[in-house]
Amino acid sequence: METNCDIPASPQCIALLRETLELLETKDHSEPGFTFIILGASGDLAKKKIYPTLWALYRDNLLPKHTSIVGFARSNLTAADIRSRVTPYLPRNDINNHPEKVDAFFSLNQYVSGAYDGLEDFAKLNSVISSLETMPSANRLYYLALPPTVFATVTSNIKEQCMALRGWTRIIIEKPFGRDSESSALLSAHLSSLFKEEQIYRIDHYLGKEMVQNLMALRFGNRIFGPIWNRENIASVMISFKEPFGTQGRGGYFDSFGIIRDVMQNHLLQILCLVAMEKPVTTSGEDIRDEKVKVLRCMEEVKLDNIVLGQYTGNPELEGEAKEGYLDDPTVPKGSLTATYALAACFIKNERWDGVPFFLRCGKALNERKAEVRIQFRDVAGDIFNEQCKRNELVIRVQPGEAVYVKLMNKTPGMAFNLEETELDLTYNSRYKDLHMPDAYERLILDVFCGSQINFVRSDELVEAWRIFTPLLHKIEKEKVKPSLYKYGSRGPAEADELTQRLGFKFYGTYKWVKPQL
Ligand code: BG6
Repeated sequence: METNCDIPASPQCIALLRETLELLETKDHSEPGFTFIILGASGDLAKKKIYPTLWALYRDNLLPKHTSIVGFARSNLTAADIRSRVTPYLPRNDINNHPEKVDAFFSLNQYVSGAYDGLEDFAKLNSVISSLETMPSANRLYYLALPPTVFATVTSNIKEQCMALRGWTRIIIEKPFGRDSESSALLSAHLSSLFKEEQIYRIDHYLGKEMVQNLMALRFGNRIFGPIWNRENIASVMISFKEPFGTQGRGGYFDSFGIIRDVMQNHLLQILCLVAMEKPVTTSGEDIRDEKVKVLRCMEEVKLDNIVLGQYTGNPELEGEAKEGYLDDPTVPKGSLTATYALAACFIKNERWDGVPFFLRCGKALNERKAEVRIQFRDVAGDIFNEQCKRNELVIRVQPGEAVYVKLMNKTPGMAFNLEETELDLTYNSRYKDLHMPDAYERLILDVFCGSQINFVRSDELVEAWRIFTPLLHKIEKEKVKPSLYKYGSRGPAEADELTQRLGFKFYGTYKWVKPQL
């Protein structure tokens, strides 16, 4: 592991580095070697996310010392071409301030072109990887940055031609993991016929976000929350994902999935599990995932009555892209009924949560960018303050501007005895100055090097997640359910507020969290 670099690593990175070092040392105490292979190296995900993530790990001295990177794709390119495609997505400062380190990073890279169904091309890939394996232990990480149509062929070819002979092989895959229970089961059966579960890393990048990881710390590291974390005290939980932009030319891909498959069934459901699960026996990946899957098993299928679907229209009052609605995107099929917004009320039938609605809300082209978890507590019993008491809320702001705050009632300072809403506020930017927050992908890729599956989705979780949503998705498609229309830049369809209020969520509109000034 390289430690003497010209860019100072942050304390967080150093802590991670130490953990990584411990986990990676081999039994004979030699340094292991790694090859990180990106399949789909010429695509968008690779250039915008995967290469920049590997660079960030390298920059912070978190990439193990003996690591090579090999890109594989159909296009006839060279490693230099990959460099020029990736460079615009690296931080400008890094390129200007550390040109030698950037050169050193790209010198670790190779590129092989070949067909995804070409067995002989995978043999060629294997010989390139083998030629880079100079250490006694040589491990391989395959990142499938590929469309799902080639998942099966590519994984079969890896198994046939490209498995590590002197170390482990791990496969990282991105959603979509199927589009319903049946297709997901087919993919899982295929993968499990080739690899063991501990070799498969299903990425849900929300699990790599700081505040999502913080949920466990808040819940199980504090005495104050445990006793009130239940149906007696909590009225509802709202897990929101809002984006202020539309599908932006990605409409073709998006249209065949829709917002439920794109965000709700994975990112939001994973967060729900972390909010609702029982305390795991230990913090090991298996113990945590055992608890998450129990939550999912207690959930009923989502019913059409408990969901609001929306699709954005253009907003003539706004500028630029916002003037165009979803159906104006030329990559979207004419008359598409695909939802770009959905709010679902989910229920967990167990002793802790019976009757408490968990609202999952996600949408594109809304009024703001925000992902948060909002726990709304029940009313104060026997209010002696002339009904001034508003409900307490614990809010975990995932992004942007990570924060945890508790909304509470306080006496208005001064002579009068009135109550007002205020907050106990832990805003990260003001509490932790000069914080370098690693990107979700950085943590997750490092986890794969270390063999930690805590933040990856296990196959039984996936089965349950699809069980909860498949009947609904089929019904929506079969009955051609029409989404309600909402304007680009609005809060979404009005029906969503009606549903949350019908199920007991209270919105007062009297309080707005103000981001503290630094
Ligand atoms: C992806 C979805 O999984 O998450 C996208 O496919 C969405 O539609 C993205 O925009 C949001 O991720 P983040 O990290 O920007 O919140």
